Amino acid sequence: MDNPVSFERRARIGIITIDSPPVNALGHAVRVGLVAALEEAGRDPQVEAIVLNSAGRIFTAGADIREFGKPSQAPTLPEVIAAFDRSAKPIVAALHGTALGGGLELPMGCHYRVALAGTKIGLPEVKLGLLPGAGGTQRLPRLTGAERALDMIVTGNPVEAAEALELGIVDAVYPDGIALDAALDFIEKTGVDKLTATPVSSRTDRIANTDPAVFAAARAKLAKEKPNLFSPQRCVDAVEAAVQFPFTEGLARERALFQECMASPQRAGLIHAFFGEREVAKIPSLPAGTPLRKVEKVGVIGAGTMGSGIAMCFASAGIPVTLVDAKPEALQAGLANVRRTYEGNAKKGRISAEEAERRIALVQPAESVDALSDADLVIEAVFEDMELKKKIFAALDRVCKQGAILATNTSTLDVDAIAEATSRPQDVCGMHFFSPANIMRLLENVRGEKTSDDVIATIMDVARRIGKVGVLVGVCYGFVGNRMLHQRGREAMSLVEEGAAPEQVDAVLKGFGFPMGHFAMSDLAGVDVGWRIRQERRKAGAPDAIAPNWLDRIAELGRYGQKTGAGIYRYEQGDRTPRPDPEVAKILEDYRREAGIAPRPIDDQEILERCLYAMVNEGARILEEGVALRAVDIDVIWLHGYGFPAYRGGPMFWADQVGLGKIHDTLVALHDKTGEPHWKPSPLLERLAKAGQTFASL
Ligand code: 3HC
Repeated sequence: MDNPVSFERRARIGIITIDSPPVNALGHAVRVGLVAALEEAGRDPQVEAIVLNSAGRIFTAGADIREFGKPSQAPTLPEVIAAFDRSAKPIVAALHGTALGGGLELPMGCHYRVALAGTKIGLPEVKLGLLPGAGGTQRLPRLTGAERALDMIVTGNPVEAAEALELGIVDAVYPDGIALDAALDFIEKTGVDKLTATPVSSRTDRIANTDPAVFAAARAKLAKEKPNLFSPQRCVDAVEAAVQFPFTEGLARERALFQECMASPQRAGLIHAFFGEREVAKIPSLPAGTPLRKVEKVGVIGAGTMGSGIAMCFASAGIPVTLVDAKPEALQAGLANVRRTYEGNAKKGRISAEEAERRIALVQPAESVDALSDADLVIEAVFEDMELKKKIFAALDRVCKQGAILATNTSTLDVDAIAEATSRPQDVCGMHFFSPANIMRLLENVRGEKTSDDVIATIMDVARRIGKVGVLVGVCYGFVGNRMLHQRGREAMSLVEEGAAPEQVDAVLKGFGFPMGHFAMSDLAGVDVGWRIRQERRKAGAPDAIAPNWLDRIAELGRYGQKTGAGIYRYEQGDRTPRPDPEVAKILEDYRREAGIAPRPIDDQEILERCLYAMVNEGARILEEGVALRAVDIDVIWLHGYGFPAYRGGPMFWADQVGLGKIHDTLVALHDKTGEPHWKPSPLLERLAKAGQTFASL
C-alpha cells in the first residue's frame, strides 16, 4: 500500500499531508507516516515551519475505530501527538471538512490551527462510550477554559469553525478555498520568523482560576440526565484532572480513564451501533452497479399526522411533494401541520424564516391522485384498510407514469397483496416510516416478493437523501420492529395480569435504558389504537386475535392515554408525567378476580427476561425467515425506531453479550412451565446456543 502520509517542502515550509480515504482515520500506517514525515521536516535545515494538512473531504475522523479492541501498535496516537507537541519547529494544522476526536487532538498537539469556514470541530468520543484519549481532555481546556471544554467533551457535539475561533480552538478562519493555502497564507501574514513553537500543553492561563463548582454541576446534571451512562462521568473526571494536575500527570489520568471506558461493555455497544448504522445501507444481494431511478418529485397520499410528517421529510431535503387527500378539511389540517412545524422550527432558531417558507412552499396540496401523474415516487399513508389501499394502488397504476415507484406506508398489511392491485408489482414496495415521521430516523424499506432490484436500491438511497436510517426488511405481519414489539407487549400484558403493576414493568424497562416504559408508550401512542385493531381482528375471526384483556377495559372507559388525560396512567393538566392511578389498580384487581387469577409478586429479573428474551426469540425467527438480512439490521431498527439503549448495541447484540446459551435455557424453562408455543426456542437460536455461537457470527 502507498504511504498514506507524504512530505514535501515549499521554500521554507515543510508540508505533511495525510491521504487515507475515506476519512483519513489515524490508523497504524498513518501514525507511522506522520512520525516519519515529522522527522524528515525536523531534519531538513531549510524547513522553518510545518503545515499539517489532509487530502479528501475530511481533515480526519480521528482514531481508526476498527483498531479498537486489538493490541495497540506503536507509535500510538498519544505518542505521535507528543512528537508534534515537542517539535522545535512551529506546526500549523490546516483543518477542513471535519476534524473529530483524534482528528482534533492531533491539531491541538500542533502550535497553530487554521480552519476553513464550516469545518466541524469536536471531540465526539463520548458517543462511542469513550473519552478523548490522546490528550483532548487536557489540551482543549487549555484552549477554551474548562467549562466550555467540559460541555464539548461531555456532549460530544462539534462546533463550527467560526465558534471554534471565538472559543480559542483555532487561530484563524478562512472563508473557503483550500485549507493548505489558508495555512500558507496564515504563515505568510504572521511571518515565519514570528511563529513560535509554544505547545498548548505548556499553557495554563485559561484553566488557572477554574471554579471547582463546574465539575460538581456537570456531575449532578449527568446523574439526572444520563444516569446509565459510564463514559460521560469519566469525561468530567478527566477534564477535572486537567485543572488539578500538571500536564503530564493529567495526561496519565486521562489515559487510565480512557482504558476504563475502552474496557466497558457500553463502548462495545455504542461502536456496534456506529458501524451498524453504516452496515445496513449495504445490501449484499444487490448486483454491483444497480442503477438508481430518478426521484425528484414525490407524492404522498393521506394528509393525516403520518402523511404530513412524511411530506416534511422530503420538503426538508429540498424535494417537492404533492400531498393528496380526498377530504378538503383533512388536506387543510395536513398543510397546517406542515406550516406549524416549520414555523416552530424557525422560532426555535433551527432554521431561518426564509428556509421555513421555502419548505412550506415545497408541499403542494391536491384532492385527487390524478395530480401524481408525473411523480417519481408515491407513498401511500392512509389508514390500515386493505380494500382502501388496493383501490388507491389500482388508481395509481392508472395514473402514474411508467417507472414511478409506488410505496405503501402500511405497518401491518401485506405489501404483496397491495402490489397485486397493480399491473406493475415490480415497482411496488413498502416504506414504513415511524411516527413522528419528520423526526424519527428509522425507515423500514419493505421488499415485496416482486419488487425489482433498482427499486430497492433507489429507496435505500432515498432514505439516505432524506436523512433516515433505511433498513431493508421482508414482508410479514409487523415487519421487524412491530413484530418484535408485539412480543414484548404480550409479555408486559401477561406480567400485569399475573400480578405486576404497570409501573413496575415500566420501571424495569426504563432501568434497562429505554427512554420510556411499554405502558407509558401505549399511553403516548393512544390506548384506543391497539384496542381498535384488536376489535377488528376479533371481528374478522383472525386465528391469532388476542382474547379480551384488561387493557380493553381501560379503553372502554374512554381512557385513551395522554390525549384524554388518563390511560394506563393518569396525567395532570399540561404535564406528560405518567402517574400510577388507583382507579387502574382497581380495574386490574377486578379483572384478575373475575378471571380467577391469584396475583403473585413478580421480581424485576423475571420482568426483564420475559420482555426481552421474547423479543430476542422473535428476532431469531425473523432472521431464520430472511425477513431481516442480518442481526445488525434488527439492532439498528430497535436503536432508531424504539429507543433501545444505544450503549447496549441493540437486542441481538445484547443477546450475544448475555449469552445465547443462557437465553436458550431460560426459554426452554418457560416453555416447559407454561406450554406456550412462543416460548419454544427458534431453531436458529437453538442451533447457535448449542454450538456456543452468537448472532454476530452468522
Ligand atoms: N475510524 C474508522 N472508520 C471510520 C471512522 C473512524 N474514525 N469514521 C468513519 N469511518 C468509516 C465509516 O465506517 C465508513 O465506512 P464504510 O464506508 O465502510 O461504511 C466510512 O468511514 C465513511 O464514513 P461515513 O459513512 O460515516 O461518512 P460521512 O461522510 O457520512 O461522515 C464522519 C463522516 C462525520 C467523519 C463520520 O464518519 C463520523 O462521525 N466518524 C466518527 C468520528 C469519531 O467518532 N471520531 C472519534 C474516533 S475515537 C478517537 O478518536 C479516540 C481518540 O480520542 C483516542
